[in-house]
Amino acid sequence: MPRTAIAAIGTCLPDRVVTNAELTRLMDTSEEWIVQRTGIRERRWVAEGQGNSDLALAASRQALDRAGWKATDVEAIVYATLSTDHMFPGDGCFLNAKLGLPGVPALDVRNQCSGFLYGLSVADAWIRSGQYRRILLVGSEVHSTGLDVTTRGRDVAVIFGDGAGAALLEATDDPARGVLSTHLHADGRFARELWTDAPGSFYHPRLQPRMLEDTSAFPKMEGQKVFKHAITKMPEVVRAALEKNGLTAADLKVLIPHQANLRISEMVQRSLGLRDDQVFNNIQKYGNTTAASIPVCLEEAVRERGVARGDLVALAAFGAGFTWASALLRW
Ligand code: ACO
Repeated sequence: MPRTAIAAIGTCLPDRVVTNAELTRLMDTSEEWIVQRTGIRERRWVAEGQGNSDLALAASRQALDRAGWKATDVEAIVYATLSTDHMFPGDGCFLNAKLGLPGVPALDVRNQCSGFLYGLSVADAWIRSGQYRRILLVGSEVHSTGLDVTTRGRDVAVIFGDGAGAALLEATDDPARGVLSTHLHADGRFARELWTDAPGSFYHPRLQPRMLEDTSAFPKMEGQKVFKHAITKMPEVVRAALEKNGLTAADLKVLIPHQANLRISEMVQRSLGLRDDQVFNNIQKYGNTTAASIPVCLEEAVRERGVARGDLVALAAFGAGFTWASALLRW
């Protein structure tokens, strides 16, 4: 049975850097509060006219260049995002058109911060089953157009940023390479602890002027509950992946935790007993980019930590749903 290897990763972070100091001009917050609670120093915001699928396109093109693939080598697209350009269809279809791939299937994944790993799990199953041999897996997010950037929304607005990461997945027969296992979870009892209520088809009509006034159209988060669950579930699901493969934390070259919050990553690191050089974070520069955070972080980690062929890499996520997931792979 073939395995799934990552042939290349590309990223796209919008040019516009938004510092914490800039946010202090929009809302009552401070550099000290943001850095102390989240570790974030700056994030990127898209320019007007730059959409989610544009970021994904740029990331995909970079990945294709790096792998030496043509766009037409891609047999399927899996696209993880919570912030689609439009209500429907999903951004996978817009990316399909932008890459010039009529007829190539496009699956949108809506699992928020865990979206990239849910997508990886599906793509890995397709590759193992022999259905496709070359898949484009994207995590892309535009948060900035949907945040309440006033003091009212400051607990959420300071955390999130825009960006995209694209991974090219290919079937390999090399037993020393590829995805070893993926582990997915959800607990919908907590669906309303981190969510955007409206617009939604539940409401008649689904879009109403009051949704801006009463803030139901903005993301809401029970920060302390998210924190508590994230620092429990992320180590748990990494341990499950290591155990399943008869490995230990000491075997890891690097863990890429979803970049939710630097404090969360530090607690996960401590819980797993990992050294500083075994965990990679870049939330300081980009904020929390939800589905994009793992590929964006992995791409930098590979370059900056010198991840080499055969090195053991763990990916872990936790987010809205609640959903959480991990993947273990040999680079
Ligand atoms: N700037 C200044 N003050 C703020 C801000 C801000 N941006 N946001 C909230 N505050 C204030 C609150 O109004 C409150 O003031 P009060 O005491 O006068 O009422 C005070 O700070 C403390 O607020 P809390 O919400 O209790 O702050 P807490 O210590 O819980 O920190 C935080 C909030 C950072 C969100 C924390 O709960 C946390 O880290 N949670 C994890 C959630 C997270 O990181 N999610 C990431 C996205 S989800 C994901 O990717 C999994």
